[in-house]
Amino acid sequence: MINMIWAMDENNLVGKGDKIPWHIKEDLIYYKSKTKGQIVLMGDTTYYSLRGYYKDKPLPYGKIYIATIDKNLAINDGLNEIEMVYDLISFLKTVNFDLWVVGGATIYKLSLPFADRLYISFVKGTHEGDRYFPQIDYSKYKLTWENNTDLVRYTLFERVM
Ligand SMILES: NC(=O)c1ccc[n+]([C@@H]2O[C@H](COP(=O)([O-])OP(=O)(O)OC[C@H]3O[C@@H](n4cnc5c(N)ncnc54)[C@H](OP(=O)(O)O)[C@@H]3O)[C@@H](O)[C@H]2O)c1
Repeated sequence: MINMIWAMDENNLVGKGDKIPWHIKEDLIYYKSKTKGQIVLMGDTTYYSLRGYYKDKPLPYGKIYIATIDKNLAINDGLNEIEMVYDLISFLKTVNFDLWVVGGATIYKLSLPFADRLYISFVKGTHEGDRYFPQIDYSKYKLTWENNTDLVRYTLFERVM
C-alpha cells in the first residue's frame, strides 16, 4: 500500500525553497501521528531539510528510503536505517509493504500515479512559495474521511480506479 501525505494551500503550494511555507502546529501534530515509526520515502532535498531541523537526533520514522538520481550519493547518518533509491519508478512498482511518501514536490509528482491513499491537509488561504503539487484528477479517488478546523481541512482520498 502506497500512502502519500502532504499539506498544500489553495494554490497547491507545498514549499518555499527547502522549507514549508507556513507553520501550523496542529498539522505537524497530525502529520507526526500518521508517520511516526513508519517506513517512508523522501527526496534527498527533503531529507537534508529535515536533517537540518533534527540535527543530531534521529528522524521520527522507521526505515527511510531516500530517492536520488545521483548514483554516487550514499547517505548514512548513523541515526536512522536508510536505503537509497536510485530508480524511483521501479521501486514504486515493486512496493509490497506500507510505504508513506513524505515529499517533496518532485517525489510527490513522480509517486502520485502509484499511490493508493492520499492524506491531504488542505491549508486554508494562499501563501508565498515556489514548489507546487501537480493537478490531481479527483475522479480517480473517493473521499473517505475528513475533518475540518479553522486552519486546515484534513482529508483521506482512496483510489477507486
Ligand atoms: N507541504 C508538504 O507537505 C511538504 C512535505 C515535504 C516537503 N515539502 C517541500 O517540498 C520542497 C522540496 O521538494 P523538491 O522537489 O525540491 O525536493 P524533493 O522532492 O525532496 O527531492 C528532489 C530530489 O529527488 C531526486 N529525484 C528526482 N527524480 C528522481 C527519480 N526519477 N528517481 C530518483 N530520485 C529522483 C533528485 O535527487 P538528486 O538531485 O540527488 O538527483 C531530486 O533532487 C521543499 O520546499 C519542502 O519544504 C512540502
